[in-house]
Amino acid sequence: MKGIFITFEGTEGSGKTTVIEKIEQTLLKMNYPVIKTREPGGSKIAEEIRNIILDVENVHMDPATEALLYAASRRQHLVEKVLPYLEKGYIVLSDRYIDSSLAYQGYARELGIDEIYQINQFATHGLLPDLTIYIDVKPEVGLTRIHHNHREENRLDLEKVDFHQKVYQGYQIIAHRFPERFRVIDGENDREKVFQDAFQWIQEIIQKRG
Ligand code: TYD
Repeated sequence: MKGIFITFEGTEGSGKTTVIEKIEQTLLKMNYPVIKTREPGGSKIAEEIRNIILDVENVHMDPATEALLYAASRRQHLVEKVLPYLEKGYIVLSDRYIDSSLAYQGYARELGIDEIYQINQFATHGLLPDLTIYIDVKPEVGLTRIHHNHREENRLDLEKVDFHQKVYQGYQIIAHRFPERFRVIDGENDREKVFQDAFQWIQEIIQKRG
């Protein structure tokens, strides 16, 4: 693959979206071909699946159904958007990817990290990111930020604090499992520092890939 696939991960209110925007703008100014996208969603069909998953009315969604829908949305987004841009040599920045499923469905919903990895192997044909920036913010800090920003809450935001604690623990486990591509950034620092720390890893992978 000619391009570079970079994913961003974190718990609710970690500030991923703000960091990604700044990284995109900075890379564009440096004249790199770059595209920013997000999961679940990122293409028409994938956005439709997103609406089903995050609908606050779908309180009875079975955890395995949820995991399969995320994998389905991921597959569609990959085929329609990520792969074509990687083939054209773009830097693809994705707000969430497979590690979200491992942390949320695999660990927090207790479906098993290995089981969720398996269904995602099928969905992605084993395509892993070149680099994953994990923005580490403790759930109590992240959830307070969301309430202060008055961001609209979705079905997963409305889970109990325990659930978000488990997602956080899940990410710690996954970070240890994939040390070669996972870079942990302290997201409780100020925005500029978080951006600088993340950007340093992005520059490193760009240099490595020539
Ligand atoms: P979103 O509004 O995009 O939140 P965020 O800004 O935190 O990314 O909602 C995405 C929600 O879906 C978020 O709670 C994480 C969850 N999610 C999973 O549980 N599994 C997944 O595989 C993905 C991609 C997201």
